[in-house]
Amino acid sequence: MSGQRPIRIGMFQAVTTMGQWRLPGNTSTDFLDLQHWVTMAKRLDAAGVDFLFLADDYAYPVVDEHVVPRAIERAIQFPKADPVVLLSALALATERLGLVATVSTTVEKPQIVARRFATLDHLTGGRLGWNVVTGAGQNASALLFDEPLIPHDERYARAEEHLRLAMELWEGCWEDDALVEDRESGTYADASKVHEIDRHGRWHGARGVLTVPPSPQRTPLLFQAGASSSGRGFAADYAEAVFLASEPAATAAQIASVRDLLETNGRGRDAVVFLSAGTFVVAPTEEEALAKRAAQSGFWTLEDAAAAYAFFTGLDLMSMDLDGPLTTTRTETGRTNVERFSGANGAPALTVRQILEEFRRNSVMGAPFVGDPVQVVDQAEAFLAETGADGFLVQPDPTGTFDDFLDLVLPEMRRRGLVAEPEAAPAGPTLRERMFGHAHLPASHPGASFRRASVEA
Ligand SMILES: Cc1cc2nc3c(=O)[nH]c(=O)nc-3n(C[C@H](O)[C@H](O)[C@H](O)COP(=O)(O)O)c2cc1C
Repeated sequence: MSGQRPIRIGMFQAVTTMGQWRLPGNTSTDFLDLQHWVTMAKRLDAAGVDFLFLADDYAYPVVDEHVVPRAIERAIQFPKADPVVLLSALALATERLGLVATVSTTVEKPQIVARRFATLDHLTGGRLGWNVVTGAGQNASALLFDEPLIPHDERYARAEEHLRLAMELWEGCWEDDALVEDRESGTYADASKVHEIDRHGRWHGARGVLTVPPSPQRTPLLFQAGASSSGRGFAADYAEAVFLASEPAATAAQIASVRDLLETNGRGRDAVVFLSAGTFVVAPTEEEALAKRAAQSGFWTLEDAAAAYAFFTGLDLMSMDLDGPLTTTRTETGRTNVERFSGANGAPALTVRQILEEFRRNSVMGAPFVGDPVQVVDQAEAFLAETGADGFLVQPDPTGTFDDFLDLVLPEMRRRGLVAEPEAAPAGPTLRERMFGHAHLPASHPGASFRRASVEA
């Protein structure tokens, strides 16, 4: 690794048909077949990548308070199923792969998340990560739950209370030696070492105990994925890994701003691993790669792109003048993909048509690396150097899985010493040990303040 930290590699999936489902050989329409996921997870485990991430939300494109019919017809951010229920099966099928899933703090209660994830952290042997989001497509999920749309920044304030309560349940209830399991005396646990928490916030509160004994990591590795300004503040306070998807200059600015905030917060500039969405359109030769790219980018229309954009932002681009700028940047749905194109982050503001073209070609994940294996790894290395990112959240290839990346890109990265050999992957059974070398939240993380004095860091 020539003294450098290895490039971090996570793999992106969602329990849905991927955007490329129409391409020949694409298997993502098998998303409700458990064997599809087990086969994929086993392959990733053997390849030695860091983790599999399963995205989620309770949403779909909505305009004027109704689901966009074209989204249903064309499978744009639709259909979707629950990823968390897959994780115990994937844990059994794998040995080292990190397993990361999204749960929204807007939709679920902290007590439910704390209990389910404590259970899963046991079942995965501490390989669990939680992508803490306030949730994409909030306009749709508010309608689905028949609740008012909570204003954007209030969602982040609620997220903070939510996460702090979950962490208090994981870190603050059970002392390390509370579990006794002494058959002779009949003592299961030492009641003096299992503490009730008593917390009352504006939105979330609890009086009581977490009933699940402490899991290997206690708090699962905390991911975050909203790049709006409130999202970045939340990341700097609590995240241990951050997902990004933007142009190189904007990605560099986002990472630098979170690292500055991390320093201000006393967590240290390296307390977070930054992973940028990486699409690798790769083939043995450059010509084949370019042909692949042409085949992929041809089938979305501007209307399809508008449906995808409406999902992320709640804004209906088809109702705006295509050759002007966004007529409004006010939205209480997601802001990342409004700020990204409206000049807010130092990048030039795009016209509505340019935004639609960007979404038509690249959807939400940004421009791909295209070429033969040497070319794409050159491009990926240049991206990391320019942005300061620590690695990639690899997007599925046209088959809906990761065959091209695993067969062509990973060997080239290994040849250059950028990624550890599978058997040389950092030792340690938990995901946090794999990424940071320690199993529990570090003392500088706000969650550590909930620990009892007797609990090991
Ligand atoms: C690679 C990547 C993965 C993401 N995964 C999710 C996800 O699974 N669920 C979700 O609601 N948002 C996810 N997001 C974030 C959304 O795009 C959206 O920005 C966020 O949920 C709303 O927060 P915002 O207002 O800060 O943009 C992801 C973002 C990126 C870049």
